[in-house]
Amino acid sequence: MGGHITSEQMESINDTTINLVETVSADKDIMVNILDLKMYDDYTYHHSLSVAVMSLAVGMEFGFDKNTLNELVTAALLHDIGKIAIPITIINKPSRLTPEEFEIVKKHPIAAGVHLRKNNLVSQNTFMGIVGHHEKWNGTGYPNGLDGKNIHMFARIMAVADVFDALTSHRPYRKPAPAHEVLEYIMANAGTHFDEEIVRAFLKRVAPFPVGSHVRLSNGKRGIVIRNYPEQPLRPQIAIIGEDTSCDLFKDPQYLNVIVTGIDELDNISAPPVNSRS
Ligand SMILES: [Fe+2]
Repeated sequence: MGGHITSEQMESINDTTINLVETVSADKDIMVNILDLKMYDDYTYHHSLSVAVMSLAVGMEFGFDKNTLNELVTAALLHDIGKIAIPITIINKPSRLTPEEFEIVKKHPIAAGVHLRKNNLVSQNTFMGIVGHHEKWNGTGYPNGLDGKNIHMFARIMAVADVFDALTSHRPYRKPAPAHEVLEYIMANAGTHFDEEIVRAFLKRVAPFPVGSHVRLSNGKRGIVIRNYPEQPLRPQIAIIGEDTSCDLFKDPQYLNVIVTGIDELDNISAPPVNSRS
């Protein structure tokens, strides 16, 4: 991919790093807990770090203060720690879970939250984030079937980051889907599975087609992304290869029906239909 990082992006990376380092270094219990997670399952560990970074970016987008960002990052780092109590064979099972196995998996948000809260290791906000990260905006999630703003905002943020990272990652039961397809899936489920306001903030921070990436278009042309619009991350401006023109999928009405169909580097990992298990 392009590898061009602007000074604003670098500033945002620096802010993110400082926040992450502060959270992890301030609390040795949290460090021990996330290392337990690494021993248990490498994927869950990397997944938790990734969810923490993305949740932090969204929290910063909402202008949370330092203390709130710390609480949010802590929740994200520990959101799946309850999985440690679940046999690893269930977590990494390549085929569909039986209803009994799924019932066991569904216990992980509460198991973790209650343990951490009971031992006074995390704040009430962090606890609410962990317990609620599998709730859905329309009330069809677990463990409590809460809906809308009855779900803690941390949990609503983590739900988006959790699904984004899970679906873009390689799992024993699913190949990774390209980021733009996962963003489309998330946008399509805004207002049902996810909080629309959170999805909007998330999209501002995640660019599926970074400047410099080689993309294919639905009109058969190929091009290089030259500009991104944070409010429309799936519709960048593209310089067409072999032509002296660029097309702006966001601003130019003549390209209204054209979409980006893929990134060239991702040719060999085509995605199966999106499966929401995460
Ligand atoms: Fe989870």
